[in-house]
Amino acid sequence: MLVTYFGHSALQIELNSVIVLVDPFITGNGLAEKVVSADDLNPDVLLLTHAHGDHWGDAPAIIKRAKPLVVANHEIVTYVGRELEYNKSHGMNSGGKYDFAWGTLHQTRAEHSSSFPDGTYGGHPNGFILEAEGKTVYLMGDTAPFAEMAWIGEDHNIDVAFMPIGDNFTMGPAGSLRAARMLRPGITVPVHYNTFPVIEVDTDGWARDMKSAGFEARVLAPGETLDV
Ligand code: NI
Ligand code: MN
Repeated sequence: MLVTYFGHSALQIELNSVIVLVDPFITGNGLAEKVVSADDLNPDVLLLTHAHGDHWGDAPAIIKRAKPLVVANHEIVTYVGRELEYNKSHGMNSGGKYDFAWGTLHQTRAEHSSSFPDGTYGGHPNGFILEAEGKTVYLMGDTAPFAEMAWIGEDHNIDVAFMPIGDNFTMGPAGSLRAARMLRPGITVPVHYNTFPVIEVDTDGWARDMKSAGFEARVLAPGETLDV
């Protein structure tokens, strides 16, 4: 599978059969706008980890135009049905798993909050574990470390973990190290940093600390693709 990072937590996963877009905050995201336009994204599947504007982002326009299958928690799927009058969706909740034709998704909890830009409650924030084409990718969502990550590490052989490192709104570099010790992923890739001044991070320092703790660390530039 090919994973292209757009900046912040927006990324696209190309599987053989489908294109999966995650947290499409493009418009107003200075990092992403340099490498992609929301108008150019045509996903078959749209994953939303939570409802905050820096993840929900361009979802309304992309849903209306590209008509993807929307996979998110019950509250987000319900909101999409009511506000966008769009019902090609699949609601899940924390701890649940579903086998789609293109891969298996586990919805994990995330330690964060979730409301839409208009203030509507967005349900519990989540992450996703995607198993497809023999690989396992953990999209952690916006989260702090939580002790049950040790269970996730025991239950899944994670090839790549996309982990927030920007601090302030999510865990920072130290928290991501704690998370890596519990998850034991093959590769760690940072997300949710450098989009705004309050989440600026020295990624070289982060990668150095991750490597000296025994984990592989890959910093992706916006627009860069990782072959998983
Ligand atoms: Ni958030
Ligand atoms: Mn966020």
